[in-house]
Amino acid sequence: MTLLTEKQQPEKKDKKEKELGFATRAIHAGQIPDPTTGAVTIPIYQTTTYAQEAVGVHKGYTYSRTGNPTVSALEENLNELEGGAGCACFSSGMAAITAVFSTLSLGDHVLISEVVYGGTPRLCNNILSRFGIKSTYVDTSNIEATRNAITENTRLIFVETPANPTLKLSDIKALSEIKGNAKLVVDNTFLTPAIQRPIELGADIVIHSTTKYIEGHNSTIGGAVVSNSKKDNEDVKFIQNATGSILTPFNAWLTIRGLKTLELRMRKHSENAQIVAEYLEDHPKVSKVLYPGLASFSQAFLAKKQNNSKNGYGGMLAFELKGGVEAGLKFAKSLSFLTLAENLGAIETMVTHPATMTHAAMGKEAREKAGITDGLIRVSVGLEDPQDIVEDLDRAIKSATSL
Ligand SMILES: Cc1ncc(COP(=O)(O)O)c(C=O)c1O
Repeated sequence: MTLLTEKQQPEKKDKKEKELGFATRAIHAGQIPDPTTGAVTIPIYQTTTYAQEAVGVHKGYTYSRTGNPTVSALEENLNELEGGAGCACFSSGMAAITAVFSTLSLGDHVLISEVVYGGTPRLCNNILSRFGIKSTYVDTSNIEATRNAITENTRLIFVETPANPTLKLSDIKALSEIKGNAKLVVDNTFLTPAIQRPIELGADIVIHSTTKYIEGHNSTIGGAVVSNSKKDNEDVKFIQNATGSILTPFNAWLTIRGLKTLELRMRKHSENAQIVAEYLEDHPKVSKVLYPGLASFSQAFLAKKQNNSKNGYGGMLAFELKGGVEAGLKFAKSLSFLTLAENLGAIETMVTHPATMTHAAMGKEAREKAGITDGLIRVSVGLEDPQDIVEDLDRAIKSATSL
């Protein structure tokens, strides 16, 4: 990697520069002291436009919808961490997903994991379908079923792994080997490059809702697309400028700040989630626990194979209380400092009831087919003291199940 922003000091780029560790790159990639003041932290370039010396003579920036130095610094950093050829940041994760789908044309087909964040099928079924883009859903953990679902018009295979909220995994390498002419797109929101790097496993495009772990502090909404080819990145950048769903400089700055501690946070999220998962697994009132770091997880082998770090298995888990939906809703009401909220991937532990919250738009039939039962509870395990998280869960389970 280079520590210099390409736009600012291209002549200093040294291809032979030693590969630095993940934490070092997260702190330094794309960041240099401000050339005018020496400020160590990148300024928030809160500007709409940029003075030109003569027509077309400028320092690489013309208008902040097309490019902004604070946003560029984030894009370079995230691109470096995912190992891509270029990154474009957006105003939300859904804007990032929309940008990738906007590369498609009338008659094109997208194959989507049947378990995904509910906003993705909402976009495909209600909006893209009106523009003649067909989407079908398949269990992408089943390679044979995925291969059989590919048609001659399939341009994208869109995979979320681990999937929201069942944590089901898809084998990225195996999918890259059967994708044919389609591009493999992986939503890496749940694990981040601190744990899983889809491009190294054969993905063409990586998506993030940076709203989650990348920014990590429940302070922004944002998204990113990292492409493994310069051409794909140019296409996405064109859409970013043409449609205008850009990230603001302030949100880019907050996201850069969050990214600097990504590895540290992911390691602790994983540690805490492992403790919570093991506690839940032993609980007499819990009928199942889904967490890739548990030996009982049906895809534990794949979780290990796709995990290229010592940072654990992430902070997301799901469980089902005995007593179904009624017990689940009572549980959600009985929490003390753990927050009932739609978001995930931040320092605060957040609890969600997917059937009525994040995945309500999917419809009951599709939810049940995907394993999102009415009693399933998703926990985004935060960075509080793990014994406090366990005690709050324990209290809420007791009052929901009258133990
Ligand atoms: C896995 C995943 N991808 C994409 C999104 C959409 O991101 P945003 O809410 O930033 O638009 C979400 C939101 O929860 C998500 O969980």
